[in-house]
Amino acid sequence: MAFKVAVVGATGNVGREILSILAERQFPVSEVVAVASARSIGNEVSFGDDDILKVVDLEKYDFKGVDIALFSPGAKVSAVHAPRAAKAGAVVVDNTSHFRMDKDVPLVVPEVNPEAIAQYQKRGIIANPNCSTIQMVVALKPLHDLATIKRVVVATYQSVSGAGHAAMDELFAQTRGIYVNEQPKPERFTKQIAFNVIPHIDIFMDDGATKEEWKMVVETRKILDPDIAVHATCVRVPVFISHAEAVNVEFANPISENAARDALRKAPGIVVVDHRANDGYVTPAEAAGEDAVYVSRIRKDPTVPHGLALWVVSDNLRKGAALNAVQIAEVLASNYLTSSKKPAKTPQKAL
Ligand SMILES: NC(=O)c1ccc[n+]([C@@H]2O[C@H](COP(=O)([O-])OP(=O)(O)OC[C@H]3O[C@@H](n4cnc5c(N)ncnc54)[C@H](OP(=O)(O)O)[C@@H]3O)[C@@H](O)[C@H]2O)c1
Repeated sequence: MAFKVAVVGATGNVGREILSILAERQFPVSEVVAVASARSIGNEVSFGDDDILKVVDLEKYDFKGVDIALFSPGAKVSAVHAPRAAKAGAVVVDNTSHFRMDKDVPLVVPEVNPEAIAQYQKRGIIANPNCSTIQMVVALKPLHDLATIKRVVVATYQSVSGAGHAAMDELFAQTRGIYVNEQPKPERFTKQIAFNVIPHIDIFMDDGATKEEWKMVVETRKILDPDIAVHATCVRVPVFISHAEAVNVEFANPISENAARDALRKAPGIVVVDHRANDGYVTPAEAAGEDAVYVSRIRKDPTVPHGLALWVVSDNLRKGAALNAVQIAEVLASNYLTSSKKPAKTPQKAL
């Protein structure tokens, strides 16, 4: 059983990570196609340790024969080309924000709502949630099952890689420039990002929230439970990879710290590191390159009848984007798709 896979946005932060995770997890591929803009035609990207792929132009690429298309070329590009790929017969897993709130497109985190994948047949598209939402709902799911979450208040500390590879270059250049007295020139960010934090990700909405904050509210409800109230403050910080979140959760029912810790320990995709000591918690630098959602600083929030506070950290390019997309593809491959029946280049790894 093997599948022809197209990676659209293959030269970007998320696309490169998708290619590396497909190889690492030995996803059963008959062929992998690297697709990006006309700017990248002929450029090369790595697939695993041995393969080099030449990039092809999305505008000219015919998706006929592609089984699964993993998209991360930006929302406006996905809006046009994801339906085109679906029409040609590929199942699209889209990392951009464009389709997430479409009622005919499932929004999926495999540890939380894998059953929603079945709805992909409506449009041939599955949406990957926002990076900040993914790590939060992975941590919330076992707690919701235990004591029913009523309300969540979250403040994020989001790395610059969430804004693409050019944003990482901007942090690097500004940081170096400040040491030699250069005036920082914001381009990808609204203000100086080096040695600073910016409470503004995506555009402002009418109610004063940013669109990134709105995404965390509506996506959490779509994935986990429409009755959960969420309030978010999303902040960009001068960290290259991994997002951190300070999360306060109010429950309908009593829940102890120990019961929460046990449920989190048993839940898929989560590693609990929670000792009240100097190294007893996880930071973004330590989570970079890892697959887990790390939960630390689990403690009572005594300001509400049944409350807990948590510190949640995960690699935004992996679980926040590429890994989640590949996990969805793995469920599709094992439960929903009949393969193109070409021999696999690598054996399939069980989920
Ligand atoms: N980074 C994250 O943590 C994260 C998490 C979840 C979702 N996302 C979403 O994923 C998308 C990509 O993010 P990223 O961080 O990978 O950005 P990026 O590093 O800037 O890469 C963008 C990719 O899209 C391609 N692209 C841009 N315009 C295109 C066009 N007109 N036609 C074809 N390909 C085009 C680029 O190709 P060229 O190199 O040829 O320009 C590149 O491969 C965004 O929508 C983002 O919101 C990102």
